[in-house]
Amino acid sequence: MAPPWQRVVWCIWVHSGMVDRMPLLTDQSTRAHELAALLGGLEQQPGPRYGALATRVQELLGTGALPVGTRLPAERELAEALGVSRVTVASAYRTLREEGYARTRHGLGTVTELPRGPVLEWPLPQDEDGVVNLAHAATPASPHLLPAYTRALELLPGALAGSGYHLDGLPALRQAVADRFTARGLPTDPDQVVITGGVMDAVGLVTSVLLSPGDRVLLEHPTYPGTVQLVTDLGAVPVPVPVDPTDPDALVQTAHTAARQSAPRLAYLMPDHSNPSGATLSAAGRRRLAATLWQQGTVTLVDEVTSGLHLDDDGPAPPFAAGVPDAATVTVGGLSKSVWGGLRVGWLRTDAALAARLADTYSHRQPAVGVLDQLAAAFLVADLDRVLADRRAELRAGRDVLTAALAELLPDWSPYPSTGGLSLWCRLPAGLSSAAVARAAMVEGVRVAEGRAFGTGAAFDDHLRLPFTRPAAEVRAALAVLARVAGRGGSASPVRAV
Ligand SMILES: Cc1ncc(COP(=O)(O)O)c(C=O)c1O
Repeated sequence: MAPPWQRVVWCIWVHSGMVDRMPLLTDQSTRAHELAALLGGLEQQPGPRYGALATRVQELLGTGALPVGTRLPAERELAEALGVSRVTVASAYRTLREEGYARTRHGLGTVTELPRGPVLEWPLPQDEDGVVNLAHAATPASPHLLPAYTRALELLPGALAGSGYHLDGLPALRQAVADRFTARGLPTDPDQVVITGGVMDAVGLVTSVLLSPGDRVLLEHPTYPGTVQLVTDLGAVPVPVPVDPTDPDALVQTAHTAARQSAPRLAYLMPDHSNPSGATLSAAGRRRLAATLWQQGTVTLVDEVTSGLHLDDDGPAPPFAAGVPDAATVTVGGLSKSVWGGLRVGWLRTDAALAARLADTYSHRQPAVGVLDQLAAAFLVADLDRVLADRRAELRAGRDVLTAALAELLPDWSPYPSTGGLSLWCRLPAGLSSAAVARAAMVEGVRVAEGRAFGTGAAFDDHLRLPFTRPAAEVRAALAVLARVAGRGGSASPVRAV
């Protein structure tokens, strides 16, 4: 049976003050019972009972286990389910309202939300002197990069007689990308492919063309911060759907419910090693979810930046887009994780008509991606199986180093199981704030991305993402700093949630 949080009813998190008025479907007494199960034993918590209740609700919101926008049970019903007085629940709800974790909505009662703190700045991925950067899951360049550029340079003279403008992308690269999709089980013609300057460039293009202010966008929660930023900048409204890294396919049901209730225009999903949760949808899960979203009229923007980076299993699941009409999805991909972030070449793949529309908008904004880069990318894409095999071997070793260092230096940090990708998503021990850890570590020359960066509102302060993309010595040194600032084995004072 699905865990209780999956059955918690969704209404919409309102990022910009817009109000969702959709009916709520779950019956209240069930929800009081479900929430009581989620809350666990309050008697173990220190301090007054109402404070423990409020804190526990905040924790559940922080992890996404209790979605933002959930109508809380009536005070009397929750009091009965918990075996506490109604005054206790009323005081807890008042505390939640005062601290920005809930508000009273006319006709709906008390609805969870997150404090409207300043939007977290997502730090740009740049190298800084004297700083170990674990904020970004970015690898050094693949050894395949330079030979690809050497071969590209040999071809460049043959391209110089033309104008250098290829509005949809260099034909050889579009062909190579199309062939790769076809080989993966998603038949694709080159006219379904548009070349962009990296994956985020493609995400920015698709969101700007398909979204209007007020449109809803279903997002995994936690998710990739760059996309949250793009979506909210366009005035669209994120609908976060919790991801359970220990049960990735649970997303099929939660996303289905959220899509039914909120009719999103777009769903942004990372089916392979989702960033940061690491969750990977099974072949059956992605087939069901793709069909469900398409039936609801939602286009899925599939981010494949980490596709092919499976580190444990025998092979990758089929593309999310296989099995639904081409117009149901726009799949974006690129070479920034498999080859190098400095190679600014990406692509999108959808049906030919939508691809032409997207290419038209793109060509007004950016008439062409660099020809030399595209020539090199064409070689790399044609040889991607070999490139990926080498990258996977490096990442496997990196994950071993990080896992061992975590076990030794931070044994009470709990990484979720990982089957691939570039990072581990860790749950911190109770009371430890990842924002505070990040601040303290920065003082000691280690940059990490705090958990809240991957959530909407202030969720995930009790999580931290740790990439395994840096050399072993850097990772070990950085973890020693994290251990020290987290109050383990060192002189720095412990950093706790405030
Ligand atoms: C999920 C996801 N999408 C896109 C990007 C950015 O890709 P690119 O550098 O190709 O724009 C990243 C980088 O970390 C990412 O994690």
